[in-house]
Amino acid sequence: MKLKILVGTMTSTADYVAQAIQMDCADMVDEVEVVLMDGLGINVFDEDAIYLICTSTYGSGDVPDNARALYDSLDLQPKYLGHVRYGVIALGDRTYTQTFAFGGRKFDERLQGLGAQRVGELFIHDASEGTMPEELGTAWCREWLPQAVAAMQKVAA
Ligand SMILES: Cc1cc2nc3c(=O)[nH]c(=O)nc-3n(C[C@H](O)[C@H](O)[C@H](O)COP(=O)(O)O)c2cc1C
Repeated sequence: MKLKILVGTMTSTADYVAQAIQMDCADMVDEVEVVLMDGLGINVFDEDAIYLICTSTYGSGDVPDNARALYDSLDLQPKYLGHVRYGVIALGDRTYTQTFAFGGRKFDERLQGLGAQRVGELFIHDASEGTMPEELGTAWCREWLPQAVAAMQKVAA
């Protein structure tokens, strides 16, 4: 089974988190692929893989610029994604009280709207806490990944 991490980022924090997971969780699946969202469209979900959306939040609760095309394609070229099992790592900063971690939450909402099923709860990182998102994100992923693998095996059965 392959874990495909789709990264939405402005200043690379989400990419560092994805890369840390790629190294740390390599023993848990056959392959971990990290892909920046730049230029991707809804067809990225055609592959038989577990998906992890790993994105920050910018502007007033927007997805990062490099995630815009993919996020928009979920609305503009919608298709049924019932085969997709995914998780979400949402990076944000709680000082943005009205829009905390909206980037990841927005992807979650759109994917669910297309029939994709989220495995587990969102992992939300608050930059104002001063904790390391790579460490916490990796620890979260080690718990989440077995659940996601099990969910994919049910889809295949
Ligand atoms: C200009 C700017 C706007 C931001 N807007 C939000 C926001 O609306 N909500 C939120 O939760 N975090 C917001 N953040 C915080 C980032 O999402 C957070 O620092 C994240 O860890 C950055 O990850 P990245 O380096 O992968 O882009 C903002 C940060 C900046 C610099």
